[in-house]
Parts: sequence; structure tokens; C-alpha cells
Amino acid sequence: MRAVRIERFGGPGVLDVAEVGEPEPGPGEVLIRAEASAINPVDDKTRAGAIGADMPLPPMTLGWDLAGIVVDAGSSGLRAGDRVIAMSHQLATGRGTWADLVVLAAEAVALAPRDLDPTGAATLPLPGLTALQSLDRLALAPGERLLIAGAAGAVGGLALQIARARGIAVDALVSRDAQLAFAREHGAAFATTDPAALPERGYHAVFDTFGAFATGAVADGGRYVSVATQAGPVPDLSARGVRTAVGQVREDGAGLRELAALADRGLLRPRVDSVFALGDVRAAHERFARGGLRGKVAVAF
Ligand SMILES: NC(=O)c1ccc[n+]([C@@H]2O[C@H](COP(=O)([O-])OP(=O)(O)OC[C@H]3O[C@@H](n4cnc5c(N)ncnc54)[C@H](OP(=O)(O)O)[C@@H]3O)[C@@H](O)[C@H]2O)c1
Repeated sequence: MRAVRIERFGGPGVLDVAEVGEPEPGPGEVLIRAEASAINPVDDKTRAGAIGADMPLPPMTLGWDLAGIVVDAGSSGLRAGDRVIAMSHQLATGRGTWADLVVLAAEAVALAPRDLDPTGAATLPLPGLTALQSLDRLALAPGERLLIAGAAGAVGGLALQIARARGIAVDALVSRDAQLAFAREHGAAFATTDPAALPERGYHAVFDTFGAFATGAVADGGRYVSVATQAGPVPDLSARGVRTAVGQVREDGAGLRELAALADRGLLRPRVDSVFALGDVRAAHERFARGGLRGKVAVAF
């Protein structure tokens, strides 16, 4: 079977579609035939060797996101032939999803949204779980206000839609004028490209997806969660009673089921910028690196 492997860190040219042996599921695991995946910033950084000091070394198979069909359900309760979505924490487990056949823990897998095609479904797991787990951590009570920084990105755009589905009052900080309409259409009451236009200490909670560190916008006693690991820790705001954290996404089957249920109700819509065949994975990474994306770069098997 085919797998996207790297033997060394570097630019898109180090990506190889190699022939490798088929994996065997163990107890509590599911064997999935991949239909599609998507490129996330972590894949780009892993390929480039830019994760940090304690990152695993190549050779490795890349990929976190997956939409596919169950081949062997084991004791998971799923059935062979089920369409599923999954997220593999590739850096922690070494199990990359960019392979024709993928074995994952049953807890990392859920039934796919009913009406999404595989490329659309494959864009949801990693950014969707990051958004969902961060919003759960921020635990907004009715009447509280949320700011999402980077609200038109993959994580931010899904966080915006989940927040709207939960009835949370949310505003958006985006990077370009072209993203303002998206933010408003997907639930932002107020959207701006200018951090100075945000109300001073106006938000009970801030979800920061790119390292904006818009700390002046969070109210005293509020919460500030960043997932921009590369930007470093959130400045210490304990003197103002603000709890800060840098979140790390984790495998989460229940979270995937929640994302699928939102998609089934039409409340979570994937955005696909472009779709590349697996054999064109280098070109897919080049497209990702050019930026200016209007959604995810997906890979079809
Ligand atoms: N810790 C974790 O577990 C975890 C999980 C998922 C993601 N992440 C990290 O979170 C970050 C976002 O991921 P993603 O998949 O959402 O990436 P993405 O799709 O590239 O989204 C990032 C968004 O932030 C915007 N942005 C960048 N600089 C900005 C600025 N100065 N002002 C306003 N907006 C700005 C970008 O705008 P443009 O389109 O104009 O560039 C883009 O819309 C990445 O660094 C990723 O590695 C971490």
C-alpha cells in the first residue's frame, strides 16, 4: 500500500509516496481504508522539522486527519463499511494517516457526517477538535462574550460556527478585509482586522488561534486560551485574575461525534480551498505554504 513518508526534514521535495507493508489492527483498534485527508499547519512544521527540540525524528508517515471506510471494526461497535472520520496524534503515536490503510485506537474514530463528501469530512477532525476542546475549556456561561482571534482560519472558522451553534455571543479578529464577510456570515456580531478596535477588557473569554495575544481585550477575571504553540506562552495575566493556557489538541471520539452531529444539522460547514491526489502531495504542500487560502487543502486517495 501507499504511504506519504519522509526520510529527512525539509521542503515539500522530501515527501515521498512509498510502498509499505499493510498494518494489522490490535485489540481495541480499527483498520480504516483512507479516502481523504487534509493538510494542517502541524504537518507542514513536522515535514520541515520545525516542531521543537523533543520532536520525533524521521523516517515517519505524516498526517493527522482522516476520512475513510472501516475495513475491520474489531470490538469498536462500528461495522465494516461504515464511513468514519478520525484524528491521529501523529507526533505522539507515530501513526500517520497519509496511507491507504490506517490502524487507529477505536476511541480516535467516529461515524462521518452523513452528507459530507470524504474531502469535506476530512477537513474537520484536527481543527474541529481543537476548536471544540478550546471552547469547552473556556466554558462560557449564558450572557458571556467571546472573542476569537484568527476567526477565518481553519480552527477559528470552526470555532466561530460551534460558538454560534451553542448560542455564544462572539466577535472576530481576522487578518484581511476579505475575511470580514466570512466572519459576519458565520456568526460574528462584530468583526475587525484591527486589534485596536476591540473593546478594552470587553470579553469574558478569548480564544486565540494565531498568537495575537490580544490581552487588553480580556476582562479582569476572564479566561484566555491560545493554541498557537509556536508563539509561546500567553503573557502572565494573573495580576488581573485572568486564567491563561496554551491548549494541545487530543484524540477524542466523543468530540468527533459532536462535530459530525453539528455537520449533520447544517451548523458546521467545511471549507475546501483545493483537492490534490495523493500522488501530488508535494504540490499540495506547496499550495498550503503559499497561503492566502480560502479553506483547507485536502488530499484524496
Ligand atoms: N496546540 C494545538 O493543539 C493546535 C491545534 C491546531 C492548530 N494549532 C495551531 O494553531 C494555529 C492555527 O491553525 P489553523 O489550522 O487554524 O491555521 P490557519 O488556517 O492558517 O488559520 C490561522 C488564521 O490566523 C490568521 N492570522 C494570522 N496572523 C494574523 C494576524 N496578525 N491578525 C489576524 N489574523 C491572523 C490567518 O490569516 P491569513 O489566512 O491571512 O494568514 C488565518 O486566518 C497554527 O499555528 C497551528 O499550528 C495548534
